[in-house]
Amino acid sequence: MFPYKTSFKIDRKKSQALYLQLANQFIEIIKERKLLPETKLPGSRVLSELLNVHRKTIVACYEELSLQGWVESIPKKGTFVNSKLPKLHQQVFSIDKEFISKKTASFTFYKNDDLQRKNFKPKDGFMYLNDGISDTRLTPTEDLARTYRRICSRNLVYKEMSYGSIFGNEKLRTTLANYLNNTRGLNIEKDNILITRGSQMGIFLSAKLLLKKDDTIIVGATNYVSADITFLQREANLVRVSLDENGLLTDEIEKICKQKSIKAVYVTSHHHHPTTVTLSAERRIHLLNLSYTYNFAIIEDDYDYDFNYNHSPILPLASHDINGNVIYIGSVCKTVAPVFRIGYLIASKEFVNEAANQRRFIDRQGDALLELTFEDFIKSGDLDRHINKVMKVYKVRRDLFCSLLKDNFLDIFSFDVPKGGMAVWVKLNKKYSWDNIAKISKKYFLDIGDWQSYDKVGLGHNAIRIGFATYNNEEIYELIKRLHKTIKEVTKV
Ligand SMILES: Cc1ncc(COP(=O)(O)O)c(C=O)c1O
Repeated sequence: MFPYKTSFKIDRKKSQALYLQLANQFIEIIKERKLLPETKLPGSRVLSELLNVHRKTIVACYEELSLQGWVESIPKKGTFVNSKLPKLHQQVFSIDKEFISKKTASFTFYKNDDLQRKNFKPKDGFMYLNDGISDTRLTPTEDLARTYRRICSRNLVYKEMSYGSIFGNEKLRTTLANYLNNTRGLNIEKDNILITRGSQMGIFLSAKLLLKKDDTIIVGATNYVSADITFLQREANLVRVSLDENGLLTDEIEKICKQKSIKAVYVTSHHHHPTTVTLSAERRIHLLNLSYTYNFAIIEDDYDYDFNYNHSPILPLASHDINGNVIYIGSVCKTVAPVFRIGYLIASKEFVNEAANQRRFIDRQGDALLELTFEDFIKSGDLDRHINKVMKVYKVRRDLFCSLLKDNFLDIFSFDVPKGGMAVWVKLNKKYSWDNIAKISKKYFLDIGDWQSYDKVGLGHNAIRIGFATYNNEEIYELIKRLHKTIKEVTKV
């Protein structure tokens, strides 16, 4: 017999009526097929004694189950689990990843394994090599929170809290236009700006507007992987051009343009991702001229404009663009913290309008209160003060990290000290492999991160980006210590 006495839990403190508590538990038991169709349920008197409730509670429970169709009452015979209940194919949800991929809902959906990127959740006690992320401990959270609170307590704040502009908050667009004109030599108005949720959204929208199946886009031989994936999603044809210490070889771009029509060039001009090199002035002008001659768009992803340690930042390509061929993308996600999803796409008004129309159908609008907070943060000069402060910190970290790399791994790693950004492009002596390093480093509580993503096309450069900005000096020493132990084991014969 089914163990009725131990299978039901009654909570007399709950506001839910006892008969309903019992009915719901019966339903679960029937769904789990612990009580099969046609099973006779105990009479109301028996069950009321077993469960120590009033007989009327059981009667009401059975009535409820009968009304919902879970049981049927047959006069003079008793109450039975409904014989016509279909077998329920239960969904099983589990946090075990492999399990999810085997057991899923009963419908089909389109899955693209190319979209999978490693998601890092640092394990306890582990340090991991990131590709150049800011130190979120330096985020001016207090200042931002104070501004946010002040904005929320304004009398008319409710006006900002409804469905708003698909272009982003108007005040932020105006302030940003002034700020970028003054600091980056742009010549734009608010209508040239679409506020996005970060640079990635700008890349996505540009790809959506510019590329269709078989259209050609030029990217670096090594390139920011998420941009590559975004363009491939459009089924575009990615043509890769080589790089040297002055960035993309624009002569190669010219040769390609002579042979075929291209729609766009994607460039991380300030600090190329992943190699960190800066596109030289000469090549900038060459690239701009090519775009006028051959009518293609330049997607300029200026993801880490603010961080340049040896001289003031080089003005973006967009600042020299007189024909509106540059789509300029940036965000505060590197400058302040990745959690603040505020970025911008800057282009001709027509392009911005269409990008905003597209955006409506994926995200409707941004977070107006956060946008107003950043409007204040920029206008008050706080953003610039923050940049000046963290720049000094990151410069010290870059110098320390690079000098330790040089001193400890002479014949193992080669690299150039990056002029800017938050990462070093580290080439491993070809005698060794990152694969092996990544395996051994785990013993020393070091995770080598997403090292596989840097050479998806098989160039064989054997290099990865290692971010230095996230760690303070003490942590940098510790990281080098762990790397040192790893390398010692990897190189031992
Ligand atoms: C080259 C490059 N572009 C774009 C992004 C995306 O930045 P955001 O967080 O602003 O979307 C990143 C982030 O790492 C990046 O490295």
